[in-house]
Amino acid sequence: MGKAELRGKRASRRKRPRSQPIGRVVCALVLLILVLSASLAHAIAHAAAYLGVASCAGSTCHGRSEGNGKVVRQDELAILQDGSSAAGAHARAYAVLASARGQRIAATLGLGPASSAPACLGCHASNAPQGLRGPRYRTADGIGCETCHGPASAWISAHYALPASHASNLALGMTALDNPQVRARVCLDCHYGSAEAGQFVTHAMMAAGHPRIAFELDLFSALQAHYDLDADYTARKRRPDSVQLWAVGQAEAVRRQAALFARPNLASEGLFPQFTFFDCHSCHRAIRDGPEPRRTFEDNPARPIPFANPPFNDENMILLSLVASLYAPGEAARYETAARGFHRAMGQGAKASGEAARTLASAAASLSDRLAARSFAPASAFDAVAAVAARTTSARFTDYAGSAQAVMAIDTLLNALVREGRVTVGAAAGIRARINRAYEAVAAPERYDPPTFRRALGEAARAIAALR
Ligand code: HEC
Ligand code: HEC
Ligand code: HEC
Ligand code: HEC
Repeated sequence: MGKAELRGKRASRRKRPRSQPIGRVVCALVLLILVLSASLAHAIAHAAAYLGVASCAGSTCHGRSEGNGKVVRQDELAILQDGSSAAGAHARAYAVLASARGQRIAATLGLGPASSAPACLGCHASNAPQGLRGPRYRTADGIGCETCHGPASAWISAHYALPASHASNLALGMTALDNPQVRARVCLDCHYGSAEAGQFVTHAMMAAGHPRIAFELDLFSALQAHYDLDADYTARKRRPDSVQLWAVGQAEAVRRQAALFARPNLASEGLFPQFTFFDCHSCHRAIRDGPEPRRTFEDNPARPIPFANPPFNDENMILLSLVASLYAPGEAARYETAARGFHRAMGQGAKASGEAARTLASAAASLSDRLAARSFAPASAFDAVAAVAARTTSARFTDYAGSAQAVMAIDTLLNALVREGRVTVGAAAGIRARINRAYEAVAAPERYDPPTFRRALGEAARAIAALR
């Protein structure tokens, strides 16, 4: 898991206000030269093109060594290429394909060199379509700025020149990453998967050695933050709200999982379901043959599946259930019915489960819209922490992935309370040890034990509740 170690690695960097009129001019010159390139002009005329990280990296643009820009930090590149931090993961993503682990995965699957395997490049590089690569585009840059912010050809020269505004940038095609739904979908393409080429981790890849993928939108956003959420940010963009990001992230994750599972080409491989969608441990457990039966799994109250079948990995479905009851109670019943119906349909065959997946995806989509449209009271993170630890929810933490998702929730919600000034930094530090114990309970899948986990999680949640 390791998120505990990752947290807080990024030292806080303050930006000093200082204006840079020269920066604008140089940026504009660099851009002018770029824009004059004929092939690029063609791309611009027809579709947005990817100009490459180098086009953003000028020392007067986003390539400063210190985050002292007037509006944005301008040292975004340095943060995102910091090899010692989680924020540097995207720049490293292409290089890890050539690591021993990456090569072993690809060799086991007969994919040829991992660094050029289409099945891997969709998530480990920007992977822009061939015809839309500007002259400075390099695959070796890994996941570049434009993978998240959108291909820049149409807005690069306009976005720093006055009177550019966030709205005018978006109108030119910049991606609205300050919108929680938009951001969630961008991240989930790789941090869960998509139906696009090269963006799906199969069970075969996992069996060949690919790590499991754990994701939570708010926590992972903080881990890769290369921007300051200051007053200036809030004046230009939507005010960031951690509870909303967390809640919308859960809804979009369920929506994505169900939508992918609803596709027959992804849901199964020949006769077999695609195992990657299911609880890994349900199949990967030791068998004992002694006369005394010893169950290695627990019944889960919200999964009406036939006894001893592998359950769908419902880590996000569990948390969305509590999100719905807290923040969209009018839709909670519809979602609950869809979620149970989905589990139940697993016992009824491919057609029924495909239909139930579509019903679930649409219930999750409607929840996502509802959560994105409402506002969250500053103390709402307290309610969420209490709900994660409540008996009805915690009884559902019977397997590893759901439990890991619950600790990430507690972690990110506590961070939110600190940011909102509801909990002091000192008080939060006192609770860290308990949260770390909950992380330890999901640190090694082979040692995972549900009762131990629920105890650790309960202690952390109770300590937070006591600060209310
Ligand atoms: C759906 C997107 C996706 C696809 C497709 C994908 N990966 Fe990954 N890969 C990830 C993510 C996300 C991580 C980080 C997982 C984590 O630690 O949370 C990762 C991690 C890895 C790691 C470990 C990196 C490290 O820092 O130790 C290796 C190696 C790797 N992938 C290789 C491959 C190879 C080889 C392929 C093709 C066979 C592939 N990946 C396909 C998303 C993907
Ligand atoms: C993994 C996705 C991702 C990548 C890669 C990425 N960003 Fe971002 N970036 C974000 C998110 C999320 C935000 C916060 C939402 C927002 O402000 O739009 C953000 C915000 C920003 C901001 C806005 C700060 C503000 O105050 O408005 C700048 C500038 C920025 N990124 C520059 C870059 C540059 C330059 C690169 C490449 C070196 C890059 N980003 C790569 C996801 C990404
Ligand atoms: C194009 C695919 C892609 C997109 C889009 C993407 N990621 Fe990633 N991300 C990866 C891969 C692959 C890794 C693992 C790379 C490695 O281990 O070197 C990763 C790693 C990370 C890590 C480091 C995790 C760790 O355990 O060290 C964080 C944090 C992260 N991503 C956050 C985000 C967020 C937030 C978004 C959306 C704003 C996002 N990512 C969008 C592919 C992607
Ligand atoms: C429906 C049952 C099932 C599920 C669910 C399942 N697997 Fe597997 N897994 C298998 C089978 C079958 C094999 C092939 C090896 C074997 O026969 O034991 C395998 C092999 C593996 C191997 C290689 C093990 C070895 O001994 O070499 C790994 C690693 C693995 N799976 C990881 C995962 C992960 C991670 C998940 C969850 C995302 C998962 N599996 C979900 C059935 C399953």
